[in-house]
Amino acid sequence: MGACKLGVLLSGGGTNLQAILDSCETGLLRSKAEVAIVISNKEDAFGLARAKQAGIPALHLDPKQFPSRTEYFAKIISELKKHEISLICLAGFLLKIEPNLIREFPKRILNIHPALLPKYGGKGMYGHFVHEAVIRAGEKESGCTVHIVDEEFDHGPILAQRKILVLANDRADTLAERVLKEEHILFPEAIAQYLKKI
Ligand code: GRF
Repeated sequence: MGACKLGVLLSGGGTNLQAILDSCETGLLRSKAEVAIVISNKEDAFGLARAKQAGIPALHLDPKQFPSRTEYFAKIISELKKHEISLICLAGFLLKIEPNLIREFPKRILNIHPALLPKYGGKGMYGHFVHEAVIRAGEKESGCTVHIVDEEFDHGPILAQRKILVLANDRADTLAERVLKEEHILFPEAIAQYLKKI
């Protein structure tokens, strides 16, 4: 069987995309997966530049250019199909996934979240909001989670987690930085594990 074609959706810097790309080149995902398209809802997402740099089709699709979210996601579906994608990775994609995409790729969409779900997920729980909430609650540990996407934000079956300690002097940015390092290990690992099962 050839390498599984991944489609990556993102909205920002794309360090998780980079970790996946690196893993496809020289790591766990080598000859098991390849990123075949990267799509962003944000034109200035640095993740698009990373994709171009790697010679991978990088597409900006602006939701405002579509009459509805369903039609926006229909366009995403058609691009993913054009590139024969079998698994979608959400790597910092901030839009809620519409049911049409989930129906088209059932159990084939993975998301990474910078906390230990089921805690600290859901609407509005992204970026520094997550880490601020973790610190405010006095949690002793945090980490990251890869899960299968369903129709609720940050819901769906959990595939893998990595944990770190929250330090007494942590701020949201210091905690975010350490969690992000774990994400870069976890996402390729979780994809590799998942590919063994499908
Ligand atoms: C990560 O913290 C990820 O868990 C969350 O969005 C962030 C994306 O970071 N979903 P990057 O764009 O991969 O650097």
